[in-house]
Amino acid sequence: MPFSQAEIAEEQTHFANVIQTFKHYAAYSLSANNRRRKDFFTLPRADQELLSSLGYKENIAKADRAIMANADFLNQIVADPEIFGHDLDSEDVGYSEEIHTILSFASHDHIHGSHSHSHSHSHDEPRASQGHGGPGKQKRHRPTDFDIDKLRSTLKQFVRDWSEEVARVCYAPMREALLQHFSDIPPEERHNFRVLVPGAGLGRLSWDVANLGFACQGNEFSHYMLLPHSSSSTGATDSIDQHTIYPYVHSFSNLPNSAAMLRPISIPDVMPSSLPQGSSFSLVAGDFEEIYGADDNQDEPQGGKWDAILTCFFIDTVRQEHRELPPHHPPILAPGGVWINLGPLLWHFENNSTNDPSIELNLEEVKALVRKIGFEISNERTIDTTYTNNAQSMLGYVYHAAFWTATKRI
Ligand SMILES: C[S@@+](CC[C@H](N)C(=O)[O-])C[C@H]1O[C@@H](n2cnc3c(N)ncnc32)[C@H](O)[C@@H]1O
Repeated sequence: MPFSQAEIAEEQTHFANVIQTFKHYAAYSLSANNRRRKDFFTLPRADQELLSSLGYKENIAKADRAIMANADFLNQIVADPEIFGHDLDSEDVGYSEEIHTILSFASHDHIHGSHSHSHSHSHDEPRASQGHGGPGKQKRHRPTDFDIDKLRSTLKQFVRDWSEEVARVCYAPMREALLQHFSDIPPEERHNFRVLVPGAGLGRLSWDVANLGFACQGNEFSHYMLLPHSSSSTGATDSIDQHTIYPYVHSFSNLPNSAAMLRPISIPDVMPSSLPQGSSFSLVAGDFEEIYGADDNQDEPQGGKWDAILTCFFIDTVRQEHRELPPHHPPILAPGGVWINLGPLLWHFENNSTNDPSIELNLEEVKALVRKIGFEISNERTIDTTYTNNAQSMLGYVYHAAFWTATKRI
């Protein structure tokens, strides 16, 4: 599908802004931490000494060091501007369409995905935080609080996807349901079955599925999630637990102790490049609807192309521009194909300020709809899980997430 010059320019600008946000992380976060130091020094000397005796001042210093460690990691992700074909230090933000085809994920031997189209990033970022004008001369983007928040979420997504925490509560039952559905298929023939993981985040579920032997494609449109898949960062990873990040250092609230705030997380827990020889794994950058919307994509018809679709914390995040609801994608599943879902119904576009259409069904309605559009639902249950919050925080959100296996009627 051709994109207008204006759309391409907007996407390029957005990508440049995301890079700037990565680069600005240290300055922004140190400054936020420095506010604590300044507030501390407004206190009378005796109170400062009292708080120092509790370790408060030292905690601020430790937070600085943890932020710098995070910054080192994030800088590695954007360290090599060459891979994007641009001088990122220039005031010019003249990216080519190449930015959409840089994905190689972790294993250059096995990963080959990319998509030739450019795609809008949609709700990933509010328009106000983007630069102005096209790819010509423009002021360097100054990251907003919203941008930095996205980056902090990306750090936490690393914990979810590439550490020993959290995600297995979600990904393990999805893998099991997939194996159960294809239990008649010998492992050596799984590569004949194509599995799609929309909203792949940092790619762990799709990697796991490829590791099981299926031909797996992840799809993701957020540059925050896509950048770490570029060759610069993954090329910098050659051992398990090589990187240490401190994803919980940005808030001093709800902490039982300082260790909870300074908790180091080692990543990755598996080598991303360790997929077996012959694995089929790709990651496609772009908007799910635009790429896989069966009638829309005339270049690469997707109808009946997929044997399984795995959606994890995804169906409620999609902008409902082209279809009323994400489950309206049975055309891309082959007859007998399976859709495995896990997630809440946190409708991301409810009450949005951008006039994006939003249909907000409850779980009963979603399941009724799923049946009406041609699926048999089985394996239904609720899985209690967090998303990316600090397991040691005094505050925890638990989703009673809906799980199901839905098989497309033949
Ligand atoms: C809540 S996160 C879930 C990520 C991952 N599946 C997990 O469980 O950790 C939703 C992901 O879907 C992506 N996403 C949302 N709408 C999308 C779309 N239309 N096309 C591609 N990706 C999309 C977001 O960027 C985000 O990474």
